[in-house]
This record gives sequence, structure tokens and C-alpha cells, in this order.
Amino acid sequence: MLAAGSSLNVAPSVKLLPSMEIIRTISWMKEVSRQARAENQIIGLVPTMGALHEGHFSLIRRARQECSKVFTSIFVNSKQFGPNEDFAKYPRAFESDVEQLAAAGVDAVFAPEAAEMYPGGFHSYVNVEGLSERLEGRTRPGHFRGVATVVLKLFQIFQPHVAYFGRKDAQQVRIVQQMARDLNLDVEIAVCPIVRERDGLALSSRNSYLSAQERAAATVLHRALDAAGKAIAFGTRDALELQRIVREVVEREALATLDYAEIVDAETFEPVVRLARSSYVLLAVFLGKTRLIDNLFISPSPADPDELVLSL
Ligand code: PAJ
Repeated sequence: MLAAGSSLNVAPSVKLLPSMEIIRTISWMKEVSRQARAENQIIGLVPTMGALHEGHFSLIRRARQECSKVFTSIFVNSKQFGPNEDFAKYPRAFESDVEQLAAAGVDAVFAPEAAEMYPGGFHSYVNVEGLSERLEGRTRPGHFRGVATVVLKLFQIFQPHVAYFGRKDAQQVRIVQQMARDLNLDVEIAVCPIVRERDGLALSSRNSYLSAQERAAATVLHRALDAAGKAIAFGTRDALELQRIVREVVEREALATLDYAEIVDAETFEPVVRLARSSYVLLAVFLGKTRLIDNLFISPSPADPDELVLSL
């Protein structure tokens, strides 16, 4: 209880958050970015579809370290979901996302309505040929066309110096890099490591779809990639052998169904026969109706190119 006559400047229940602007229109977001550029600020952009988790915040923290302005977008992009996919039920948690973004020191969040991004009469799409049709693109036709289109729109709106993406979606980052190169975009693409739960499951907004049993079984992705990593550490270089190891771990898990397990070149995303240059073990697995992806990145050690560095 406060004594009569005393006063508090701040009610104790009110959390003091750094100010963060919530922007709904493209015109205002462009204006805010333009002003930041005019002040010689370094603009970092972290594009998201919301339902934020530590994976997203790892990107935001890195952007905060490297840039003087950090902008985030929250937009569940209908164009990257197939007709039978989870657009309608994709988790949405706007209020808590915004609160956490403010606490993380984000300067502005761009959260447009669908009609703002795709008004009637929208007809232009970006298609990064070749890379978009394989792997994720084969199971999810049109997915990367939707991703590339929205990411280019976001780059146009924000004009960021650096845009941050997670290696969790390895094919997505590669496609964004290719688009930036092909279309002469003045943006650096920063790739951030995969953030995992303690038991190895890569964080994903889609993990919330899993039942308790599926959640327990979902560690199979990490276990399978870990088994491949151990084999590589013991000298295996043959891609078929690595694929067999990954498949075997997935097949032993009753609740899991393999979509694909591929060993690909990190540049072309074409299958490799033997590990030599930078490559990925890419994995997509169904747990019930939920489809999860994960990967192991393999790169030659800068000190000794014959030695491979594994990043899980
Ligand atoms: P979303 O799935 O929300 O992911 C936003 C960013 O967070 C992506 O770059 C993704 O790779 C990264 N991310 C997700 N889980 C991660 C984890 N466990 N560790 C590290 N990074 C992680 O990816 C999209 O949205 C959309 O396709 C988008 C690029 C926003 C275009 O709509």
C-alpha cells in the first residue's frame, strides 16, 4: 500500500517496453525504411510468418548485433501454401509475437493484411527455375514461387542492407540467394544456424501440430541426421550409404513416414555421389499429417579441405 501523498511514476503492472512501430501499409513501411536509409542507418530485415519461437529470435538477435535498425515482417503468405496445405490452420499469435518483438528491441514490425500485399489484379511472380522444382518443390509445387515472390516484394518495400534467414530452410535460403544474384538485388543474405529443442528437434511453428506421441517420435529427424554425421566422422563419403543410414533410422520409427532423404551439393541442390564439396543431407518426414524438415550441413574445413565440418 502506498502512503497518502506518495506517488509512483509507473504503475508496477505496466511493463516498460522499447517503442516499436506496428506498420500495416506498404507506403508507410517504405517511408520508415527510406527515412532510416537517409539517416545512414544499416537496415536488417527478418522476414517471418509469425508464431515466433527461438529460431526466429536467433535471427533477430544476430540482426540486432549487426544492424542499427531491425525490421521484422509477420505475414502468413497464402501464395506459398498449396491448396491442400495448412494455410487456414497455420498458427497465428500476433499479440504475443508483437510483445516479444518489442522486448527483443525490434524497431518496427510490418504486418500487412493479405489485400495489401496481393490486391485484386496481382499478376507478377518470381520463379527461380531448377532449384525450385526439386526436393521441397516436388512435394510442394508452387511453394518456392510463392516464397520468392513475397521475399522480393519485402526486399522492395524495406530495401534492407542485410536480410536474415535460417539454415533450417536450406533450400529456401539458396533460392533467395539465387534470386538476389540473378536480379541484381543490393542485399546481403545472412544465413543463421538451426536452433533446436534440448532433444534435438529443430524449432518450427508447425511443431505445435504434433500430438504428444508424434512430438516424442519427431526427434527421429535429428537422430537420423546425427547417425549420418557420425558415419561421416568415421569416414563414410558414399552418398548412397549415408542415405541408407538415414532411411534406416526413420523406418525404425513407427509414427514416422519418410518423404525424402537426399544428399545434395550445397550450391546446385543436385544429388551427389560422394561427399567432397559443401553439401547437405536433407530430410523431410511426416509425423501423422505434419511434415517436418531438417538438415545436416557438411563443409570442407578452411584449415584442411580434406577434413569435413559438420553443422547440425
Ligand atoms: P518462417 O517459417 O516464419 O521462418 C522465418 C525465418 O526463420 C526463416 O528464415 C526460417 O528459416 C527461420 N527459422 C525457422 N525455424 C528456425 C530454426 N529452428 N532455427 C533457425 N532459424 C529458423 O520461412 C518463412 O517463414 C517464410 O517462408 C518467409 C521467408 C517469411 C516468406 O514468407
